[in-house]
Amino acid sequence: MNPILNNDVHDRPIMDLNPFGLEFRSNPSRFHELMFKNSPGFIMMEGVRSAFVATYDHCISVLRDFKSFSSQKPKGLPGMQRVDFFNSLPVMNYSDPPDHTRRRKVVNPAFGPKRTAMLIDGASQLIDRLLDKILPNGGMEVIGEFARPIAVDTMLRQFLGIDPKDHHIFLNYVQTLPLLDSIGLHDPKPKPYLDAWNAGKEYCREQQELARRGECENLIGLIANTAEGGAISDDEMMAMMMVMLTGGFPTIAGALGASLMNLARTPGLAERINETPSLSHNHLEETLRLNPPVSLVMRFAANDTDVGGTLIPQGTPVYVMIGAACSDPAVFTDPYRFDVDRPNAKNHISFGTGVHTCIGNTIARPIVPLVLRKIAERAPGMRLAGHDGDIRWNVGTPRARHIERLVVAF
Ligand code: HEM
Repeated sequence: MNPILNNDVHDRPIMDLNPFGLEFRSNPSRFHELMFKNSPGFIMMEGVRSAFVATYDHCISVLRDFKSFSSQKPKGLPGMQRVDFFNSLPVMNYSDPPDHTRRRKVVNPAFGPKRTAMLIDGASQLIDRLLDKILPNGGMEVIGEFARPIAVDTMLRQFLGIDPKDHHIFLNYVQTLPLLDSIGLHDPKPKPYLDAWNAGKEYCREQQELARRGECENLIGLIANTAEGGAISDDEMMAMMMVMLTGGFPTIAGALGASLMNLARTPGLAERINETPSLSHNHLEETLRLNPPVSLVMRFAANDTDVGGTLIPQGTPVYVMIGAACSDPAVFTDPYRFDVDRPNAKNHISFGTGVHTCIGNTIARPIVPLVLRKIAERAPGMRLAGHDGDIRWNVGTPRARHIERLVVAF
């Protein structure tokens, strides 16, 4: 039994579950027991009989079987227009091997140890500069003043290599994504989204031109060099940049926000991190388990497949509830408690699992603990400034759940 959450949805008909609905997004944990009890289950999503899996074992079975559960979105499926962030361009996360393998291989060098070390170095300097400025104020709004600036600088400037004067192009684009949430199957994409997309596309096209002349030092140049011999098309390149952006910047900011919330909420933890700095890594893993930035991913049954004794028919869209799986009591004891010493915290599937395992985990995994160690060292008394209820969550996009506002005192 989930001890801290209101279980008033416990006896609802499972068919009424709507993982894209606002009620669900506002507090997905409320629906965990209902989902565990019925997993794998069937729901109606925009008139389409769809399946969901929620237990840890069921989610793992689906995510590790890319032959039976494809990542390629079928064309014209109601609901998918709401999560078509990449304007129907071919992206690695919505493709299967061998296309997926080729796309992932092209971008893989961007995540090598040398580049990661450079990101950590840059982030370390930025964190110190921000703290020099913020600490004398006696408190901060964590997301706007601290987590976002770190995520933007690390992902946009350092990782993607986008000049700060052009950041607005990509920040605008991310801001328009929630607009897709309200459109119908045959509706045109909202104009602000299309304008932002086209601005991003134009930027990428210019950079590709520079890359061809060997004058581009950002990620586009790197990918272009790796992709010699036409391994990647212009459209794929554009899609790649947008994936890196949407996959990387909001999720890192989200993971930072939730990790700092858990630090601020747990008396004595900063001292423990100061004594044993490696604890900061388990802190991140436990945060990703308890507060997953991505709450669900989708797959599509490529053939009739049995999951846990239930047949999922070919063609069925499958909602893989990774957020629920990370709180499955069969795997994680007392799952709704933040336990920085949890021995199996790292078994969460917040980065997914299988061929699509998050490629950016090698960036998130060192950066977030670095931030935690710096805060523990320089602001060991950091605590929530108000009540837990003052923490505001952003539920603007169907698959993600990030903190929008979190105020702390030092
Ligand atoms: C804490 C931060 C992050 C979380 C929680 C997260 C979560 C995820 C999840 C759940 C998936 C699997 C999607 C699926 O199976 O369909 C994924 C894939 C992906 N992520 Fe992340 N991510 C994070 C950070 C990043 C960063 C920093 C980047 C890039 C710079 C990134 C880029 C990607 C890409 C490109 C994929 C697709 C991989 C593939 O299809 O092979 N992510 N991420």
